[in-house]
Amino acid sequence: MKFSTRLLHGHGFFEEETGTPIPPIYQVAMFEQPDRRTGETRLTDRGTELKYSREENPTVRALERALAAIEDSEDALAFSSGMSAISTLYMALLKSGARIVVPIEAYGTTIQLAADLSKFDVEAVKVWPSAEAFIEAIKPGDIAILETVTNPTLKVVDVREVAKACREVGATLIVDNTFASPVVYRPQADEASYTVESLTKYIGGHNDVVGGCVASKRERVAELWEWRRKLGTIMHPFEAFLVLRGLKTLEVRFERQSQTALEIAEYLSEHPRVEEVLYPGLSSSPYKPLADKLFARRLYGGVVSFKVKGGRSEALKVLSKVKVITASPSLGGTESLLTYPIISAAKMIPEEDRLKLGITDGLLRLSVGLEDPEDLKEDISNALA
Ligand SMILES: Cc1ncc(COP(=O)(O)O)c(C=O)c1O
Repeated sequence: MKFSTRLLHGHGFFEEETGTPIPPIYQVAMFEQPDRRTGETRLTDRGTELKYSREENPTVRALERALAAIEDSEDALAFSSGMSAISTLYMALLKSGARIVVPIEAYGTTIQLAADLSKFDVEAVKVWPSAEAFIEAIKPGDIAILETVTNPTLKVVDVREVAKACREVGATLIVDNTFASPVVYRPQADEASYTVESLTKYIGGHNDVVGGCVASKRERVAELWEWRRKLGTIMHPFEAFLVLRGLKTLEVRFERQSQTALEIAEYLSEHPRVEEVLYPGLSSSPYKPLADKLFARRLYGGVVSFKVKGGRSEALKVLSKVKVITASPSLGGTESLLTYPIISAAKMIPEEDRLKLGITDGLLRLSVGLEDPEDLKEDISNALA
């Protein structure tokens, strides 16, 4: 099946008893053990026991099959948030004395969590978010984590090259693909060890659900499954239902959001009150050639970052003046959101790193939703005025 079809049918669910192909919400905590003497249970399609919803739940499992199908991966696990996916992976992979290679630019909590692992004698090695810097830093046995498109300055990293180097060196690579989404890039196709997505963003897509996932090879997922069971970080059935529903429109949303984002990026590039626009789809962006090499389609996502002239006070004025757009730090959903990264996602990045990365006082990050592009441009234009 092609990608668009997998979005709808990748879960492979069909309930014989009722004849529905739509996975319902199994809002249940437990399942019967049919053989009371041995405690034998029913099994899921991957051979795990179906007995308790902290371990397995049919709605969550249907979502996982759909996620595996769209990530070009053998299997997938759904988690209660993007951070619970990342922290469960850390618990499964890290040993005392290990090194974790993290970019200086990434979602702030990812960087913070890696740094806080020092209390378990795990060393966080910080590198510039580029393939060259990762390749230079990784050593055998390392765990490396990176974002395909960085948050918030939208640098594109050549994941293919890093994945190749990790395999050669004997390091494990976790790719957080949240900003690119599987519509344009699937790290499993380049043999990254693990793909992480915050389902809260494009995949859920409606600003109404928090979730995460990890996609990987069957044996790796089986090991991680045990850690999810022990940590209790599984997604809940209602959330899984919402994400399954969001998945159906992922591609059409991402296409429309990417088109509107490019239109807004071009508009802002000409705006006299804007110093610089960061968007990998702009023909002037130094990251466009890499995005065109890596991404399956000429779509660059719905997030546009831009620097307002006049620094912090002017940027915060713009944030306070938008009306159609909501001031909020999330992204990838149906409603447009605007955030000031220095006080949200990039708050945990030390000032010295922030300045090197271009996360300046005037920087705002816009996540474009599904509103009419003209209304969005007018809203931003009024706020800038
Ligand atoms: C790139 C990226 N990864 C991971 C996360 C964490 O996801 P969640 O908020 O679902 O825990 C975020 C959250 O903003 C993010 O932007």
